[in-house]
Amino acid sequence: MATLTINGRPVTAPAAASVLDAALSAGIEIPRLCHHPELSAWGGCRLCLVEVEGQRAPVPACGLAAKEGMVVTTRSERLTALRREVLDFLLSDHPLHCVICDKAGRCDLQRYAYEFGLLDSSHEKEFSRTLYQDDNAFFIRDHQYCISCTRCVRVCDEIVGATAIEVSQRGFGSYIATPFDAPLVETTCTFCGNCVQVCPTAALLPVERLGKGREWELTHTQTTCPYCGTGCTLDVATRNGEVVYVSGVPGAPANGEFLCTKGRFGLDFTTHAHRLRRPWVRRDLAYALGLVPEPPPAALGRSPLLRPPGLADTHVEVDWETALDLVAEKLAAVVQQDGPDAVGGVGSALATNEDNYVFQKMMRGSIGTNNVDLCARL
Ligand code: SF4
Ligand code: SF4
Ligand code: SF4
Ligand code: FES
Repeated sequence: MATLTINGRPVTAPAAASVLDAALSAGIEIPRLCHHPELSAWGGCRLCLVEVEGQRAPVPACGLAAKEGMVVTTRSERLTALRREVLDFLLSDHPLHCVICDKAGRCDLQRYAYEFGLLDSSHEKEFSRTLYQDDNAFFIRDHQYCISCTRCVRVCDEIVGATAIEVSQRGFGSYIATPFDAPLVETTCTFCGNCVQVCPTAALLPVERLGKGREWELTHTQTTCPYCGTGCTLDVATRNGEVVYVSGVPGAPANGEFLCTKGRFGLDFTTHAHRLRRPWVRRDLAYALGLVPEPPPAALGRSPLLRPPGLADTHVEVDWETALDLVAEKLAAVVQQDGPDAVGGVGSALATNEDNYVFQKMMRGSIGTNNVDLCARL
C-alpha cells in the first residue's frame, strides 16, 4: 500500500498500482486512450500525462508506479495544452467522419475531441493508413480510424492468447497487421471479437453493426449468454427488436469484459427466419393421428434440420398441447415396452437452471431413469 497526494487529496493505492489506477479508484478522472484496465500499460498515447512534484517533465500516469509520498497533479494549464496537442496530432491523421460514423457516441477519440474543444486538427491533414479489410464474416478493419493504441494487439496476446495481430512497420507507417498480412481466417484468430470490444474508435467494428443505427438509437440490455454453461454476461444492443451488436460488460462475474465468438457474434439466431417458434409434428405421424387429411409424399425426408426451407413439406405445425400429449404418449409406450432405462435425456445450456432442474426431475421422477446429461458437458 502507498499513500500519495493527487490534486491535493490523499489517495491510498494498493501495491503495484499505477498513478492512473490510484487516481481512477479515487474517482479522479484522467484522459487516456491506450490504457485499458484489463491490459498491461503501454504508454503510447501520452494523453494521461500528469505532473509529479520533483520531476521536470510530465509523465504518463498509466506507466508510473504509485509511490509513498508522491505528489501528483492531473489538471493544469500545461497538461491541458499538452493533451490538446496530443489530440491535435491524432486528428491530423484521422478523418472526422463522426456525422456518419457507426462509432459516434461510443468513441473515445470523439469524446476527448469534444472535451478539449477540438473541431479538427490545426496541422496539415495527412493520412498514414487507408487499408480497409473485410476478410471475414464477423468484423471489419478500417485502418483510417486506427489511432495505434495497440489495445487490440494486447488483448489478443494477453487475454485471448491467440497473438493473431501485431504492430507492423514503424513510426508514421505502422499499422496493425496479421503475420505476413494474411487474411484473418488464415491466422490463429478465433474471431472472439475482443479486439473489437477494446478498440476505442471505429477501426474495428462488427459487420452486423454497420449502418444499423447510431449509438443513441440503440437499446442496451444486459443478459446471460444462451450458448454454454459459463454464463457470460452480455450487453445486447438492439434496434426495433433486432440485435445490432453484442459486447461484454466490464467487471461481469463469469467473464469480465471478454466473450467468445458465439456470444459476441452468434445471437442473430434470435430473429432468424428459420428459427422454430412452435412445435412441428412429422407429416406421416400427423396423418396417422388424423391431424392432416393427406399423407406426405413418400420420398420426403423427415428431419427438420436437414430440410429447414421445406419444413412445411415434411412437417405440420401444431399447438403445444397436441405436441406434448404426443411426446408423453410415445415416451410412455417406450417405457412400458423396454423399461425406463431405454429412455435418456439431454438438457440444454440454452435453457435456464430452473428449466434444467425440472427436466432432470421429470426424467428421474416421471420416467424413472438416471440417463440424464447436459449439452454443456458433452
Ligand atoms: S472513429 Fe470516432 S472520431 Fe473517428 S470518425 Fe468515428 S466517431 Fe469520429
Ligand atoms: S478476434 Fe480475438 S483472436 Fe482474432 S484478432 Fe481479435 S482478439 Fe485476436
Ligand atoms: S485497431 Fe483499434 S484497438 Fe487496434 S490499435 Fe487501432 S485504434 Fe487501437
Ligand atoms: S493512457 Fe497512458 S499513455 Fe495512453
